[in-house]
Amino acid sequence: MESKRSTFGSNFGFLMAAIGSAVGLGNIWGFPYKMGQSGGFTFLLVYLLLAVFVGLTIMVSELAIGRKTRLSPIDAYREVSKKYKWIGWLAVASPFLVMTFYAVLGGYVLQYMSLNLAELSFGLSDLFRQQITGVATFDAMLANPFGCFFFTLLFMVICMVIVMGGVSGGIERFNKIGMPALALMLVIVIARSVTLPNAVEGLKFMFVPGYAVKGGFIDEAPGLISVLGTAGGQMFFSLSLAMGAILTYGSYLGKEENLVSNSITIVAADTLIAIMAGVAVIPAAVANGINNGIPVNEIAMNGPKLLFVTLQDVFANMGKAGPLFGVIFYLLVLLAAISSAISLMEAVGAHWIDMDLKAGKGDTRKRITLTVSALITIAALIVAVDGLGSNNIHPAALMGITGPVPDYIADWLDFMDCWSEGIAMPLGAMLMALMIGWERSPQLVLEEVGHGYRSTFFVKFYTVCIRFVAPVVMAFVLAGQMIGFFGGHEALWYAVAFGTLALFAIYTLSGREKK
Ligand code: PHE
Repeated sequence: MESKRSTFGSNFGFLMAAIGSAVGLGNIWGFPYKMGQSGGFTFLLVYLLLAVFVGLTIMVSELAIGRKTRLSPIDAYREVSKKYKWIGWLAVASPFLVMTFYAVLGGYVLQYMSLNLAELSFGLSDLFRQQITGVATFDAMLANPFGCFFFTLLFMVICMVIVMGGVSGGIERFNKIGMPALALMLVIVIARSVTLPNAVEGLKFMFVPGYAVKGGFIDEAPGLISVLGTAGGQMFFSLSLAMGAILTYGSYLGKEENLVSNSITIVAADTLIAIMAGVAVIPAAVANGINNGIPVNEIAMNGPKLLFVTLQDVFANMGKAGPLFGVIFYLLVLLAAISSAISLMEAVGAHWIDMDLKAGKGDTRKRITLTVSALITIAALIVAVDGLGSNNIHPAALMGITGPVPDYIADWLDFMDCWSEGIAMPLGAMLMALMIGWERSPQLVLEEVGHGYRSTFFVKFYTVCIRFVAPVVMAFVLAGQMIGFFGGHEALWYAVAFGTLALFAIYTLSGREKK
């Protein structure tokens, strides 16, 4: 019976797994549009600054805590902190909640891939071809709860099999092939996208400052403060931070590996892929809209509609080659979704796998992964059947609220997203920064980093970021998320977010032993 804790087979394998976790639906359907809407390079600049000063800092911290303790989130926090021992539970609850909708979206991707594959293999009739156009397909899919649940289940089974294969035998092996394949397919899709007539309008939307407004895509560019919140939230989700995933992967990493250069590689690769994904999807979406007489401000370029309406239209209008590009594209998205989902599932199950190992019960990974998968699938049932709020069982409907409602009760996907990505993620990161920076000491992380790295610049940089920059930026992100989900008065949510920061800062500093 195996009695040793799992590890990655190589640093390259770890990198592919971590990049796989980071590169997901968030990169493809969030980043490009938010970048264009917020003035291209302005957004990119804010994003990169936040990624360097906060993302990198939290990434290094998570990896260090994971590797230092060699424990899953629940036990790792318990070991590191007196005051914040409970954050570990947040880092298990949030990935669980994210999985309840990520699995449903993964199911959608599977459906679209199958549709395009069927079209490609059998060259279906013109009648059917018409149905493959975006809106009709999307509506039909959402109105079919049975189908949605079936494909959600299928997605979960695929992920479960990979996670059951173990850290190096399943997760690492999948990513070592999946990530390079994803990059290759992305290049193919980019080549097709940017050569479509009028594609240049899409490139301008993404990269030319102010073009989103000038070109008529949106009415008004968002202000800098709101860009800060949006970019911060996007960056965090995209880098898989504060969800236990990176911490868990870090706990499987060898002591000799360099945490700082690894973190830089992950952040750089994730950002690069996000920009590449933008160049793959936005010019195609815009070109197809213009070529078919759709006003540019009516082209859906964000969220599920970008993936499942706009882009399906692009493929449907491409003629014979359409289904082929459709298959390549949705397969690429599927790889991105699976590689992220398996990191979320690993973060949820790791604690129980560790416990059994410690109790001398041997390696119970298979049984625990099965349980975790079953629980996620049961919870995902409501999200699948809800069909993004189209089947009248969304939270507002169940509560009997009619009329316009805030996002977080408009459908079950947003409801799950609100508590995980909206609240738990920024809060968890804020508390982690307070815990390391003030309750314990930045030294905690720096010592662990020191195994493979020594630099006085990094020591100073890290200390300032973890103590001051990260907590304040996380308050902005928290406010931005609450404004997005709950709506209403912005001032109120800023007050709530900074009030939360102040309260926890007092809690952290109270009764602190002087060293
Ligand atoms: N980073 C993934 C994405 O961009 C989502 C994710 C978040 C995965 C947190 C794991 C942990 O879609």
